[in-house]
Amino acid sequence: MDTTREEPIIKRQKSDEDTVNQVDPQEQDNVTTATIDEEEGYTAEERALGESLIEAVVAGDLSKVKVLVGEKDADVCYSGTEQGRTPLHYAAESGHLAVVDYLLSERHPYNLVDKAEVTAGELALKNGHTEVYERLVNEGVRSELVIRAMQNAFQRQEEEDGQITVIPNEDYLQQKLHYDDNKLMDANDDAVMMGWEGPLMVEHAKVMCPKEGLDVLNVGFGLGLIDMELQKYKPRNHYIIEAHPDVYAHMKKLGWDQKPGVTILFGRWQDMVPTLTTTFDGIFFDTYGEFYDDLRAFHDAVPNILNTDGIYTWFNGLGATNQFFHDIYCRVSEVDLREFGLDTEYVEMEIPTADEKGVWDGVRQRYWALDKYFLPICKFLQ
Ligand SMILES: C[S@@+](CC[C@H](N)C(=O)[O-])C[C@H]1O[C@@H](n2cnc3c(N)ncnc32)[C@H](O)[C@@H]1O
Repeated sequence: MDTTREEPIIKRQKSDEDTVNQVDPQEQDNVTTATIDEEEGYTAEERALGESLIEAVVAGDLSKVKVLVGEKDADVCYSGTEQGRTPLHYAAESGHLAVVDYLLSERHPYNLVDKAEVTAGELALKNGHTEVYERLVNEGVRSELVIRAMQNAFQRQEEEDGQITVIPNEDYLQQKLHYDDNKLMDANDDAVMMGWEGPLMVEHAKVMCPKEGLDVLNVGFGLGLIDMELQKYKPRNHYIIEAHPDVYAHMKKLGWDQKPGVTILFGRWQDMVPTLTTTFDGIFFDTYGEFYDDLRAFHDAVPNILNTDGIYTWFNGLGATNQFFHDIYCRVSEVDLREFGLDTEYVEMEIPTADEKGVWDGVRQRYWALDKYFLPICKFLQ
């Protein structure tokens, strides 16, 4: 049984869980025998072994843990506890690095969630176990890169077999949108873009367009916050790629097609970028309803359209409802960007506007839960 779920990890996607291949331990395959405990799916013997394992893990008794898993066949992912926590949760919560290492080496997935959807990584972070947290983040990066490599191999095969490419946000692109009180909302009352992100857009614009007269590209207009900032720097060429017809109509209504230096390319970036005949000093990317693979595909396209000393930056909402997954995906992105010849630096920013009173009123699902913003600045590797 495949227990992983491919969920969007970039901001504002409309899944109920915003995760990185998060796994529910209750969906693990369990041994089915006549004496199975109906409630949790464990036999009395499995339960006894599982409880002993948890006890040994909490005590940090690695030798006993090894005997229970290696010799007595205790379930390394035992989740029959009240909160549905597994040995890795307990090892992380107690800060036992050697036990964490061993459990991971025994193929305990790094991202199992308990009944409250909490991962071992979050417990390590909450309890200040920095080394354990780092170990789990590194394991997350490693696992995600391996999973991705396997998925890519399958995808290549599908492409060779002539299967059609899916547009991830096709449904969104056909919905009726509305602008409402400094928010751009979709038909389900999910926010496409919100005013609280204004200070972030100011910084992104400053980073990618540090002086007047440059050539800049923004992908995704939304509320036009970054484009308004970019205009302040009087760019020589200011390209905007926007795919949604309602947003495009709004841009024209506001006269964006008449602004100095502005060229609007109406369409998906996937179709528009290959038509570009110019290169840029600054590039910003911030779309909606797409997946990490789409962001990565854009990263891949950047070296062809960025000037040698240009700056590329993108909205960093990766896994933004969970610090652990966010940290993993910041690093995965760094690895990917390096593969495409780009060096990444993250600049830490406070974001008090995300928690202002009433900010999320009327929004179906909050897409941001992090304390800090890590603004990426990418340049060609020297
Ligand atoms: C989050 S908003 C951008 C907000 C913008 N950074 C601002 O400062 O207001 C995302 C925008 O990307 C557009 N979009 C979504 N998918 C796209 C695609 N594949 N190509 C181009 N634009 C896309 C959406 O219609 C939306 O206007």
